[in-house]
Amino acid sequence: MKKILITGGAGFIGSHVVRLFVRKYPTYEIVNLDKLTYAGNLENLRDVEKLPNYRFLKADITDGDTMLQLFEKEKFNGVIHLAAESHVDRSILNPMDFVITNVIGTVNLLNAFKAHGDMTDGLFYHISTDEVYGTLGDSGFFTEETSYQPNSPYSASKASSDHFVRAWHETFKLPVVISNCSNNYGSHQFPEKLIPLFIHNIKNYKPLPVYGKGENVRDWLWVEDHARAIDVIFHNGKKGDTYNIGGHNEWKNIDLIRVLCKQMDEKLGREPGSSEKLITYVTDRSGHDFRYAIDSSKLQRELGWKPSLQFEEGLSKTIDWYLANSEWLEHVTSGAYQNYYEQQYAAR
Ligand code: NAD
Ligand code: TYD
Repeated sequence: MKKILITGGAGFIGSHVVRLFVRKYPTYEIVNLDKLTYAGNLENLRDVEKLPNYRFLKADITDGDTMLQLFEKEKFNGVIHLAAESHVDRSILNPMDFVITNVIGTVNLLNAFKAHGDMTDGLFYHISTDEVYGTLGDSGFFTEETSYQPNSPYSASKASSDHFVRAWHETFKLPVVISNCSNNYGSHQFPEKLIPLFIHNIKNYKPLPVYGKGENVRDWLWVEDHARAIDVIFHNGKKGDTYNIGGHNEWKNIDLIRVLCKQMDEKLGREPGSSEKLITYVTDRSGHDFRYAIDSSKLQRELGWKPSLQFEEGLSKTIDWYLANSEWLEHVTSGAYQNYYEQQYAAR
């Protein structure tokens, strides 16, 4: 019997990880800890919330005393740490929120695990991003040996948290593992990131704000493939190691947006080319990384993981999910979302 804490389990990736673990490991006790910020939504977990091996706890990882008391009481065997502020544009507006949640929150969890976690057979698994490596030119890939060169407040906060995790391993012998993943897409993603934002805007005939010339490149991974990688690394990863996760699936933003527009036109029964007319080039993001591309051969070679889904198929499934879940979309885009949207895009 294992008791595993998953932080940020009400968010986009976290909800997929919780779902996978709760269903696949009925003998594990899965505790989902989440503050339920704008990005956390318990509607993401309706299908597993009644299962006997699942429990939700509303708590804030930035509260160190509460984390210590919780870990003392629960004696977790493992932690899968996903809770974070995750959106680059928000980090440009409010960097300190990212320092507090991503850096201090992570150190609170490391301290709590060191004090009361299973330091012999347990594991503290930190989920991170490829953005810590900075930006690439037209060629090359990020490997586990690439040096850190974060450019945004978001990636700087994630890089910092990665370093703290490594430091707790070296200094305090905490059993840790880190993975750095490329851009995820799929169901339940908050519509501030490129793909769900553009699906939402196309649906509502709103402009599609393309930053700069749309030439930046991202390496997209189906979120359920990320969740499967997390499962494999949690169970078989080497303690103290880092694993890169990516789909070998690079897209220039504007090319991806054109495919998305075409699929949306077909699914909504609109005139071919009508969604593309919504494309609006806006002021570029400050410090916008040009290209991300992950070399995930270590994970593939050592742990046998590989991505399962071809991109156009994954994109089509993602659009279908958003079109079938308009109530979810309405709930998450009401209220505070409108304020953020105005602040982010009005002056662009
Ligand atoms: P998300 O923003 O959708 O979800 C984050 C979750 O963390 C939310 O449920 C939120 O309520 C919770 N949270 C935030 N602050 C908290 C706090 N102080 N205490 C407790 N809970 C808190 O993010 P996501 O896209 O699912 O990303 C999850 C993790 O994966 C993050 O660590 C992110 O850096 C990393 N990551 C994301 C991507 C991506 O493409 N989205 C890629 C690689 C790595
Ligand atoms: P995003 O989904 O924010 O992920 P990240 O910045 O973490 O890679 O953005 C993906 C790409 O899409 C990135 O190059 C920025 C671009 N982008 C736009 O052009 N317009 C938008 O409105 C958003 C949110 C992103």
